[in-house]
Amino acid sequence: MLALRVAYIFLALLVITKRTSANLNKQKAPITVTDGNWTNVLDGEWMLEFMAPWCPACKSFTEVWREFATWGHDLDISVGVIDVTENPGLSGRFLVTSLPTLYHVQNGEFRRYTGARKTTDLISVIDEKKWADIEPVAWYRDPKSVQMGVLSSFFKAAMFIRGVYSTMTNVYGIPEWLCYVIFAILTILVGLILGLLLVLCCDNFFPAKYIPLPPERLAHKPSDDREDDTDIIDDTADGQKLSGESIPEAKENSPVNPQSNDSDLRKRQSKNAD
Ligand SMILES: *[C@@H]1O[C@H](CO)[C@@H](O)[C@H](O)[C@H]1NC(C)=O
Repeated sequence: MLALRVAYIFLALLVITKRTSANLNKQKAPITVTDGNWTNVLDGEWMLEFMAPWCPACKSFTEVWREFATWGHDLDISVGVIDVTENPGLSGRFLVTSLPTLYHVQNGEFRRYTGARKTTDLISVIDEKKWADIEPVAWYRDPKSVQMGVLSSFFKAAMFIRGVYSTMTNVYGIPEWLCYVIFAILTILVGLILGLLLVLCCDNFFPAKYIPLPPERLAHKPSDDREDDTDIIDDTADGQKLSGESIPEAKENSPVNPQSNDSDLRKRQSKNAD
Protein backbone atom coordinates (compact mmCIF):
# COMPACT_ATOMS: atom_id res chain seq x y z
CA MET A 1 0.00 0.00 0.00
CA LEU A 2 2.71 2.42 1.02
CA ALA A 3 4.84 1.36 -1.88
CA LEU A 4 1.95 2.09 -4.21
CA ARG A 5 1.47 5.55 -2.69
CA VAL A 6 5.17 6.35 -3.06
CA ALA A 7 5.04 5.15 -6.64
CA TYR A 8 1.97 7.32 -7.26
CA ILE A 9 3.64 10.45 -5.81
CA PHE A 10 6.75 9.72 -7.84
CA LEU A 11 4.65 9.41 -10.97
CA ALA A 12 2.80 12.64 -10.21
CA LEU A 13 6.11 14.48 -9.67
CA LEU A 14 7.38 13.13 -12.96
CA VAL A 15 4.31 14.41 -14.79
CA ILE A 16 4.65 17.87 -13.17
CA THR A 17 8.34 18.11 -14.08
CA LYS A 18 7.60 17.08 -17.64
CA ARG A 19 4.90 19.69 -17.90
CA THR A 20 7.15 22.46 -16.55
CA SER A 21 9.89 21.62 -18.99
CA ALA A 22 7.33 21.55 -21.78
CA ASN A 23 6.25 25.06 -20.77
CA LEU A 24 9.87 26.14 -20.76
CA ASN A 25 10.27 24.67 -24.21
CA LYS A 26 7.41 26.81 -25.44
CA GLN A 27 9.14 30.03 -24.34
CA LYS A 28 12.48 28.81 -25.46
CA ALA A 29 12.93 30.02 -29.00
CA PRO A 30 14.13 33.58 -29.58
CA ILE A 31 11.55 35.73 -31.38
CA THR A 32 12.24 36.25 -35.08
CA VAL A 33 12.43 39.93 -35.98
CA THR A 34 12.09 40.92 -39.63
CA ASP A 35 12.36 43.98 -41.88
CA GLY A 36 8.59 44.17 -41.72
CA ASN A 37 7.99 44.02 -37.97
CA TRP A 38 11.19 45.33 -36.41
CA THR A 39 9.35 48.36 -34.96
CA ASN A 40 7.91 45.99 -32.35
CA VAL A 41 11.28 46.11 -30.61
CA LEU A 42 10.66 49.79 -29.82
CA ASP A 43 8.19 48.61 -27.16
CA GLY A 44 9.61 47.39 -23.88
CA GLU A 45 12.98 45.82 -23.27
CA TRP A 46 14.71 43.63 -25.83
CA MET A 47 17.96 41.86 -26.47
CA LEU A 48 18.62 41.35 -30.16
CA GLU A 49 21.06 39.10 -31.93
CA PHE A 50 22.04 39.72 -35.53
CA MET A 51 23.23 36.53 -37.14
CA ALA A 52 23.63 34.74 -40.44
CA PRO A 53 23.36 31.02 -41.13
CA TRP A 54 26.78 30.95 -42.81
CA CYS A 55 28.70 32.56 -39.96
CA PRO A 56 30.61 30.05 -37.82
CA ALA A 57 30.72 32.28 -34.73
CA CYS A 58 26.93 32.54 -34.89
CA LYS A 59 26.54 28.77 -35.02
CA SER A 60 28.44 28.28 -31.80
CA PHE A 61 26.51 31.15 -30.22
CA THR A 62 23.06 29.79 -31.17
CA GLU A 63 22.88 27.47 -28.16
CA VAL A 64 23.81 30.27 -25.74
CA TRP A 65 21.18 32.54 -27.24
CA ARG A 66 18.51 29.87 -27.07
CA GLU A 67 19.30 29.23 -23.42
CA PHE A 68 19.28 32.96 -22.72
CA ALA A 69 15.88 33.23 -24.41
CA THR A 70 14.43 30.76 -21.90
CA TRP A 71 15.28 33.32 -19.21
CA GLY A 72 13.45 36.05 -21.09
CA HIS A 73 10.24 35.56 -19.16
CA ASP A 74 11.96 35.65 -15.74
CA LEU A 75 13.99 38.69 -16.70
CA ASP A 76 10.90 40.35 -18.15
CA ILE A 77 12.51 41.02 -21.54
CA SER A 78 12.00 39.78 -25.07
CA VAL A 79 14.85 38.00 -26.77
CA GLY A 80 14.96 38.48 -30.52
CA VAL A 81 17.02 37.12 -33.37
CA ILE A 82 17.55 38.68 -36.80
CA ASP A 83 18.83 36.80 -39.82
CA VAL A 84 20.68 39.48 -41.80
CA THR A 85 20.64 37.43 -45.00
CA GLU A 86 16.84 37.55 -45.01
CA ASN A 87 16.57 41.08 -43.63
CA PRO A 88 19.24 43.20 -45.34
CA GLY A 89 17.25 46.31 -44.46
CA LEU A 90 17.86 45.72 -40.78
CA SER A 91 21.57 45.06 -41.21
CA GLY A 92 21.75 48.50 -42.86
CA ARG A 93 19.54 50.15 -40.28
CA PHE A 94 21.64 48.85 -37.36
CA LEU A 95 24.93 49.12 -39.30
CA VAL A 96 25.85 45.55 -38.54
CA THR A 97 29.50 45.08 -39.47
CA SER A 98 30.32 41.93 -37.51
CA LEU A 99 28.40 38.80 -36.61
CA PRO A 100 26.96 37.99 -34.21
CA THR A 101 26.10 41.53 -33.09
CA LEU A 102 24.08 42.07 -29.93
CA TYR A 103 21.87 45.05 -29.17
CA HIS A 104 20.04 45.98 -26.01
CA VAL A 105 16.86 47.99 -26.60
CA GLN A 106 15.01 49.78 -23.84
CA ASN A 107 11.99 51.86 -24.89
CA GLY A 108 13.51 52.74 -28.24
CA GLU A 109 17.01 53.41 -26.89
CA PHE A 110 19.63 51.25 -28.57
CA ARG A 111 22.87 50.07 -27.00
CA ARG A 112 25.38 47.83 -28.67
CA TYR A 113 26.52 45.13 -26.29
CA THR A 114 30.10 44.00 -26.81
CA GLY A 115 30.81 42.37 -23.45
CA ALA A 116 31.17 38.75 -22.37
CA ARG A 117 28.85 36.30 -24.07
CA LYS A 118 28.18 33.39 -21.77
CA THR A 119 24.56 32.84 -20.76
CA THR A 120 25.35 33.90 -17.18
CA ASP A 121 27.01 37.09 -18.43
CA LEU A 122 24.00 37.94 -20.54
CA ILE A 123 21.63 37.31 -17.64
CA SER A 124 23.61 39.58 -15.32
CA VAL A 125 23.65 42.31 -17.98
CA ILE A 126 19.86 42.44 -17.67
CA ASP A 127 19.45 41.46 -14.04
CA GLU A 128 22.03 43.91 -12.69
CA LYS A 129 21.20 46.51 -15.33
CA LYS A 130 24.79 46.56 -16.54
CA TRP A 131 23.54 47.73 -19.92
CA ALA A 132 22.97 51.19 -18.41
CA ASP A 133 26.77 51.72 -18.41
CA ILE A 134 26.87 51.42 -22.20
CA GLU A 135 26.47 54.63 -24.19
CA PRO A 136 23.33 54.56 -26.35
CA VAL A 137 24.03 54.76 -30.09
CA ALA A 138 24.53 58.32 -31.36
CA TRP A 139 21.55 60.14 -32.91
CA TYR A 140 23.01 59.89 -36.42
CA ARG A 141 23.19 56.11 -36.10
CA ASP A 142 19.83 55.72 -34.42
CA PRO A 143 17.95 52.90 -36.18
CA LYS A 144 14.70 54.89 -35.83
CA SER A 145 16.12 57.89 -37.70
CA VAL A 146 15.32 58.93 -41.28
CA GLN A 147 18.91 58.61 -42.50
CA MET A 148 19.21 55.03 -41.24
CA GLY A 149 15.89 54.34 -42.94
CA VAL A 150 17.45 55.57 -46.19
CA LEU A 151 20.52 53.42 -45.61
CA SER A 152 18.21 50.50 -44.96
CA SER A 153 16.59 51.04 -48.37
CA PHE A 154 20.03 51.12 -50.01
CA PHE A 155 20.89 47.79 -48.41
CA LYS A 156 17.59 46.36 -49.59
CA ALA A 157 18.20 47.69 -53.12
CA ALA A 158 21.73 46.26 -53.16
CA MET A 159 20.40 42.89 -52.04
CA PHE A 160 17.68 43.07 -54.68
CA ILE A 161 20.22 43.77 -57.44
CA ARG A 162 22.37 40.92 -56.18
CA GLY A 163 19.33 38.67 -56.34
CA VAL A 164 18.61 39.76 -59.91
CA TYR A 165 22.26 39.19 -60.82
CA SER A 166 22.34 35.66 -59.44
CA THR A 167 19.04 34.87 -61.17
CA MET A 168 20.47 36.12 -64.45
CA THR A 169 23.63 34.04 -64.17
CA ASN A 170 22.24 30.92 -62.50
CA VAL A 171 18.73 30.62 -63.95
CA TYR A 172 19.10 32.21 -67.39
CA GLY A 173 22.76 31.38 -67.87
CA ILE A 174 23.70 34.90 -68.96
CA PRO A 175 27.51 35.27 -68.95
CA GLU A 176 29.02 37.49 -66.27
CA TRP A 177 30.39 40.12 -68.65
CA LEU A 178 27.00 40.54 -70.30
CA CYS A 179 25.43 41.07 -66.87
CA TYR A 180 27.90 43.87 -66.21
CA VAL A 181 27.14 45.45 -69.60
CA ILE A 182 23.41 45.24 -68.91
CA PHE A 183 23.85 46.76 -65.46
CA ALA A 184 26.08 49.52 -66.87
CA ILE A 185 23.49 50.41 -69.53
CA LEU A 186 20.69 50.33 -66.95
CA THR A 187 22.72 52.57 -64.63
CA ILE A 188 23.27 55.12 -67.41
CA LEU A 189 19.59 55.00 -68.40
CA VAL A 190 18.42 55.45 -64.82
CA GLY A 191 20.90 58.32 -64.44
CA LEU A 192 19.57 59.98 -67.61
CA ILE A 193 15.96 59.58 -66.54
CA LEU A 194 16.66 60.92 -63.05
CA GLY A 195 18.60 63.84 -64.56
CA LEU A 196 15.73 64.62 -66.91
CA LEU A 197 13.22 64.49 -64.05
CA LEU A 198 15.43 66.80 -62.01
CA VAL A 199 15.61 69.32 -64.87
CA LEU A 200 11.84 69.14 -65.39
CA CYS A 201 11.25 69.64 -61.66
CA CYS A 202 13.63 72.61 -61.57
CA ASP A 203 11.95 74.15 -64.60
CA ASN A 204 8.59 73.66 -63.00
CA PHE A 205 9.39 75.05 -59.58
CA PHE A 206 12.09 77.59 -60.48
CA PRO A 207 11.26 78.75 -64.04
CA ALA A 208 14.18 80.57 -65.71
CA LYS A 209 13.47 84.28 -65.70
CA TYR A 210 14.66 86.70 -68.29
CA ILE A 211 16.73 89.26 -66.47
CA PRO A 212 16.33 92.63 -68.24
CA LEU A 213 19.47 94.52 -69.16
CA PRO A 214 20.10 97.80 -67.44
CA PRO A 215 19.75 100.63 -69.99
CA GLU A 216 23.41 101.72 -69.79
CA ARG A 217 24.50 98.22 -70.86
CA LEU A 218 22.37 98.47 -73.99
CA ALA A 219 24.36 101.46 -75.17
CA HIS A 220 27.60 99.55 -74.77
CA LYS A 221 29.01 98.25 -78.03
CA PRO A 222 30.99 95.00 -77.89
CA SER A 223 33.93 95.13 -80.31
CA ASP A 224 34.53 91.41 -80.72
CA ASP A 225 33.24 87.96 -79.69
CA ARG A 226 35.59 87.49 -76.78
CA GLU A 227 34.45 90.68 -75.19
CA ASP A 228 30.90 89.65 -75.89
CA ASP A 229 31.44 86.48 -73.85
CA THR A 230 32.73 88.37 -70.86
CA ASP A 231 29.79 90.66 -71.29
CA ILE A 232 27.40 87.77 -70.73
CA ILE A 233 29.06 86.81 -67.49
CA ASP A 234 29.02 90.44 -66.35
CA ASP A 235 25.42 90.67 -67.30
CA THR A 236 24.39 87.74 -65.13
CA ALA A 237 26.26 89.11 -62.15
CA ASP A 238 24.70 92.54 -62.63
CA GLY A 239 21.33 91.00 -63.23
CA GLN A 240 21.46 89.21 -59.90
CA LYS A 241 22.36 92.44 -58.18
CA LEU A 242 19.58 94.20 -59.96
CA SER A 243 16.94 91.54 -59.61
CA GLY A 244 15.51 93.39 -56.63
CA GLU A 245 15.10 96.64 -58.53
CA SER A 246 12.34 97.10 -61.02
CA ILE A 247 13.25 98.16 -64.52
CA PRO A 248 10.49 99.52 -66.70
CA GLU A 249 9.46 97.11 -69.42
CA ALA A 250 9.26 99.81 -72.07
CA LYS A 251 12.89 100.77 -71.58
CA GLU A 252 14.04 97.24 -71.99
CA ASN A 253 12.34 96.86 -75.34
CA SER A 254 13.07 100.30 -76.76
CA PRO A 255 15.85 100.11 -79.33
CA VAL A 256 18.77 102.33 -78.39
CA ASN A 257 20.66 101.41 -81.52
CA PRO A 258 20.39 98.45 -83.89
CA GLN A 259 23.74 96.93 -83.01
CA SER A 260 23.15 96.71 -79.30
CA ASN A 261 19.77 95.22 -80.01
CA ASP A 262 21.54 92.56 -81.97
CA SER A 263 23.85 91.73 -79.06
CA ASP A 264 20.86 91.65 -76.77
CA LEU A 265 19.29 89.04 -79.04
CA ARG A 266 22.43 86.97 -78.98
CA LYS A 267 22.42 87.04 -75.21
CA ARG A 268 18.86 85.90 -75.20
CA GLN A 269 19.78 83.04 -77.46
CA SER A 270 22.68 82.00 -75.32
CA LYS A 271 20.41 82.06 -72.31
CA ASN A 272 17.86 79.92 -74.05
CA ALA A 273 20.60 77.48 -74.96
CA ASP A 274 21.17 77.00 -71.24
C1 LIG B 1 7.80 39.04 -37.03
O1 LIG B 1 7.33 38.20 -38.06
C2 LIG B 1 7.77 36.85 -37.92
C3 LIG B 1 7.39 36.09 -39.16
O2 LIG B 1 6.47 36.75 -39.96
C4 LIG B 1 7.15 36.27 -36.67
O3 LIG B 1 7.54 34.93 -36.52
C5 LIG B 1 7.66 37.08 -35.48
O4 LIG B 1 7.06 36.62 -34.29
C6 LIG B 1 7.37 38.55 -35.67
N1 LIG B 1 8.10 39.26 -34.65
C7 LIG B 1 7.57 40.23 -33.93
C8 LIG B 1 8.47 40.89 -32.97
O5 LIG B 1 6.40 40.54 -34.01
